[in-house]
Amino acid sequence: MEGLVLGIETSCDETSTAVVRSGREILSLVISSQVDLHRRYGGVVPELAGRAHLEAILPALQEALRDAGVGLGDMDAVAVTRGPGLIGSLLVGVTAAKALAFSLGVPLIAVNHLEAHIYANFLHFPDLEPPLIAFLASGGHTVLVHMAAHRRYEVLGETVDDAAGEAYDKVARYLGLGYPGGPEIDRLSREGDPQTVRFPRALMHDGSYDFSLSGLKTAVINHVRKLRETGAPFEVADIAASFQAAVVDVQVHKITRAAQEKGAERVVLAGGVAANRSLRERLGEELSRLGITLYYPPMNLCVDNAAMIAALGWRMLQEGDTAPLDVDASASLPLGS
Ligand code: KG4
Ligand code: ZN
Repeated sequence: MEGLVLGIETSCDETSTAVVRSGREILSLVISSQVDLHRRYGGVVPELAGRAHLEAILPALQEALRDAGVGLGDMDAVAVTRGPGLIGSLLVGVTAAKALAFSLGVPLIAVNHLEAHIYANFLHFPDLEPPLIAFLASGGHTVLVHMAAHRRYEVLGETVDDAAGEAYDKVARYLGLGYPGGPEIDRLSREGDPQTVRFPRALMHDGSYDFSLSGLKTAVINHVRKLRETGAPFEVADIAASFQAAVVDVQVHKITRAAQEKGAERVVLAGGVAANRSLRERLGEELSRLGITLYYPPMNLCVDNAAMIAALGWRMLQEGDTAPLDVDASASLPLGS
């Protein structure tokens, strides 16, 4: 078998390993989630995450090789997330990858996590090609990008405060919903009326491609606090739906405007928030009226996963973009660097 890349991802709270052939075919994908570990804190605790990666990394490596039916000696390269992410978590993956690449005598590939999220789409849709608009939204990031060609990025806008997933998680926590909050709010919103409360749509018409969610989050919290204090009856589903409508309104508006301005025929979603049903449906409708196609990966490729790292790693290997064995993990690594 040829073209095998071992992918390793440990940037946040998922220990993930994968074997991918020629950047397109997933032979195995292991995602060991720490979500249960962090649930009672309502968010990822960095110290606990690093320690949990240490415990999970070797079993996850063995499982990926076993599932793929290959041995370490079959690998043509080792690709690992270099950043951005939690430094103590990144170091576990980067150190493991360095040791493997060194002992196997194969190239080490240091992958940008944000770029890899976008590449999850190329992995899943073999005929997809740039130019396109990509919207990446997760627990740590919100970024709107014009991708003119492979590996060429123009960042159009970003969040100026909370990441999209972070806002979902914080609002969910205040409403007493589970962790992570995005899927809970998404599910509950189906039962609620999004027009119950008109929450602010920050930066909706400011002409930029930036996003701001911290004011919205505060508005939801203040609204609910007042209702609780006065004892007025309310449905949590209505609040969830009203919050989600405010988030999605701005996202749909800005993504659509970016696609039109750049003349893009394709838009891709990436990151955990790409799983949001309302975003997918409303954006899909809006774009299809304009003749633009919307793509998003299946759930296991939306969330943090090593298959996307291996897929992008393969492309980087073809381009000769390999890393020295003393490459550093980097907590903040912008897209395109
Ligand atoms: O990409 P991801 O798995 O991890 C990183 O943060 O890198 O994203 C996780 C985030 C969480 O904040 C979670 O609440 C959010 O994605 N999320 C959602 C949905 N599913 C997951 N947000 C909104 N709607 C969803 N259906
Ligand atoms: Zn991520």
